[in-house]
This record gives sequence, C-alpha cells and structure tokens, in this order.
Amino acid sequence: MSRIAYVNGRYLPLAAAGVSIQDRAFQFGDGVYEVCLVREGRLIDEARHLARLERSLAALRIAAPLGESALRVILREVVARNRVSDGLVYLQVSRGAARRDHAFPSAGVRPGLVVTAKSLDPRAGEESAAKGVAVITLPDERWAHPDIKSLQLLPNVLAKQAARQAGAFEAWFVDRNGFVTEGSSTNAWIVGPAGVLITRQADQAILRGVTRTTLLDIVASEGLALEERPFSLAEAYGAREAFLSSATAIATPVISIDGRGIGSGRPGPVARGLRAKFAAAAAQS
Ligand code: PDD
Repeated sequence: MSRIAYVNGRYLPLAAAGVSIQDRAFQFGDGVYEVCLVREGRLIDEARHLARLERSLAALRIAAPLGESALRVILREVVARNRVSDGLVYLQVSRGAARRDHAFPSAGVRPGLVVTAKSLDPRAGEESAAKGVAVITLPDERWAHPDIKSLQLLPNVLAKQAARQAGAFEAWFVDRNGFVTEGSSTNAWIVGPAGVLITRQADQAILRGVTRTTLLDIVASEGLALEERPFSLAEAYGAREAFLSSATAIATPVISIDGRGIGSGRPGPVARGLRAKFAAAAAQS
C-alpha cells in the first residue's frame, strides 16, 4: 500500500507529493510543526498538540491554514488513508511559497499545510522502555553557528521583518555583551572617529561574508587602517560612518541606527569609495 500525504488541499501518493522550491519552510525553516502519537487509530493529546500549534503559529505570525475542525478531519483522514493503527501523524505549516526575500511575503501568500502519517511498531517502544536507554550530553548550541551558511534562517527572517516594519533596510544583531555581530543577511562595518575601519573578526558569531573578504582585500591594497574586532553599539552610534556588505548589497552606506543619525547622516566617503573599488574590480574580473 502506498503512503498518502495531504499537501495544500490534496491527498497524494507520497512519491507524487511535493511543495514549491520557493516554499519558505524549504528556504528559511520558516514554519512550524507537530507530531501526534496514534494509538489504536486514536490521536493522543490531540487538543494539546493543536493548542501548541496555534501558539507557535501566533508567535511567528503565520496565519492558520485552516480552522481547527477542518484540521482535525484532515489528521484523521491521513491516519485512515495510511491505515495507521499505531504510529504518528505529522503536520507542518509553512509561511507559504514566495519569491525569496527574508522579510515576510505579502498578505496574499497562503500558508502551506502538509500532513503525513506513518506506522510504528509499538513493541519496539516497549522493548526500549523495558531495557532503558542511554543519553550523551552536548553543549546547547541550538543554533549557535551563524558562521555556517545554513538554511536555519528563522531568526534572520524575524529580524529582517522587524527592520522592514521599522522602515529600515536591515537589522543588526547585538550580542549579550553589547557588541554588534552582523546583520540578518549582511556583515556590519563602521569607521571610527579616528578614521579606522572596524568590522568584527570572522569568528563563530558571524558569517564570513565573501563580499567582506573581497572588501578586506581592497582595504589592504588601499592601505586603509583596519581593526578586525567586535565593536559596541555605543561605538556604532558614535561612528563617523557605518555600512553593510553582502553579495547583493555590496557595500551599502548606513545613515542611521535605531533612528540616530550616523556621522554626517549621509553616505560616507569610505563606504562609497569601497563600493566604487568593488565595482571596478568586478568589471575587470
Ligand atoms: N546573505 N551574514 C549573513 C547572515 C548573510 O546571510 C549574508 C549573505 C552575509 C554576507 O555574505 P556574502 O558577502 O557572502 O553575501 C552575512 C545573502 C546575500 C542572502 O541570504 O540573501
């Protein structure tokens, strides 16, 4: 018997079931899910799972794809169509499919809903429970690796959306010690009061941007003064200039941070110079 999935309004054989490659769950991890135990065909703790789903959706400001009663019908239907007596039912809601942009898509984009179910042999669980199991310990690093260009982008998505809602282009993250790390999709730079360029060293707290590396080459070849170190938010507020970098933003001057004007309040010469040098180098490559 082939397994059946519910995907955005249709029941499909698992092999034929798919979502758009533009789905935000696929591109950003921008979605939520629940797993509910099935015992003798009944959904265990269903109300609690649906209550948590509602809380998760509300926290991420994702609209409910369907009302609760319709969702309950679909969960049962997927369990029945897969002939699951003992097993689990899995449901996932994504913010929907849209052209890739960290910030939330327009309100017209409908959330995506996927439901699957699978059988599990209850005897396997009973055997583990009878014997007991081992665990290991690890540092809790969920997700403490912005240095890896992973698809784990939900915090970045929420930060970009916060920036958009504040009328800003980008949000800069500040670590627990008050130092700027990087932007939600860009690296962060300032020019201090003495004219020294400052950008955080590429440690575990930031992505080593390719554009950042290329700009550092330009900085070196121009002989500009540079410090690769963390800079505080206070230093950023008091900077002569600030700018951000990424493959698409290149070097884009920042003229205000948290509503405070930076330097002259206009794009500064260092950022504009680096942008021009980058463009010249790109034209020759
Ligand atoms: N973002 N930091 C983060 C968190 C990023 O996502 C990016 C790139 C950068 C800059 O890296 P690079 O210079 O290699 O583009 C820094 C891309 C542009 C994106 O997600 O769209």
